[in-house]
Amino acid sequence: MEIIIQPTPPEGSIIAARIIAKLVRTKPDCVLGLATGSTPIPTYRELVRMHREEGLDFSKVTTFNLDEYVGLPPEHPQSYHAFMDEHFFAHVNVPRANIHIPDGMAADIPAECARYEAAIRAAGGIDLQILGIGTDGHIGFNEPTSSLASRTRIKTLTEQTRADNARFFEGDLSKVPFHCITMGVGTIMESRQVLMLAFGANKADAIAEAVEGPITSMNPATVLQMHPVAKCIIDEPAAGALKKTVYYRWVFDHKPDWQRW
Ligand code: PGA
Repeated sequence: MEIIIQPTPPEGSIIAARIIAKLVRTKPDCVLGLATGSTPIPTYRELVRMHREEGLDFSKVTTFNLDEYVGLPPEHPQSYHAFMDEHFFAHVNVPRANIHIPDGMAADIPAECARYEAAIRAAGGIDLQILGIGTDGHIGFNEPTSSLASRTRIKTLTEQTRADNARFFEGDLSKVPFHCITMGVGTIMESRQVLMLAFGANKADAIAEAVEGPITSMNPATVLQMHPVAKCIIDEPAAGALKKTVYYRWVFDHKPDWQRW
């Protein structure tokens, strides 16, 4: 895994946006895997700026979001449909028909999950998947002990994740759904490139396990060690429990020019 440590979230987010923009420019019809949560918001903001000021064109891009809450309709303000509109889709030119987010209101959830997997395959697979990481090491909503070979399916959120996300529901834990539809760990691992972002001291332990710990479903992000092209952009506090930070900075400082974005 390539570890990129930046002083602050805005600096890390600019690098993330540049990596994504480079792909969109070199492969205009690329397939992006998108994430929600507070972490990627500044990355989306920078991509929106690039679209407005530099003409970054998303007109041929296809997107697949990682997950959605079960039981929230798209117009619910805390749904991930609404989140993506607010932070990204309303401000760029991804065609509506190219946007894919699991349907948390589907009457037949297993059928919806199978449909989602088939749609990813039909699009040619995901070129670059953006990921956050939960304080418990979840990626997407694949909570600890998720099968590392799992596919898109329903998951029950942990108490910890529901508590972490209550801030999006006016701090009211009772409003946080118990279930979600999430891409599986196996689905995520098939992306050609993954870009994990983590900011803040509360992510430090999960990141140290994911990067330097043994691979275990107890922290699903650890499986990214098996991914051939995984980058991890973190700020100083999120890097706080890593052992080899001197080496990660050394690698970053000595990157050949052609490897930069
Ligand atoms: P956050 O969530 O970006 O809001 O911290 C990350 C995650 O749960 O994957």
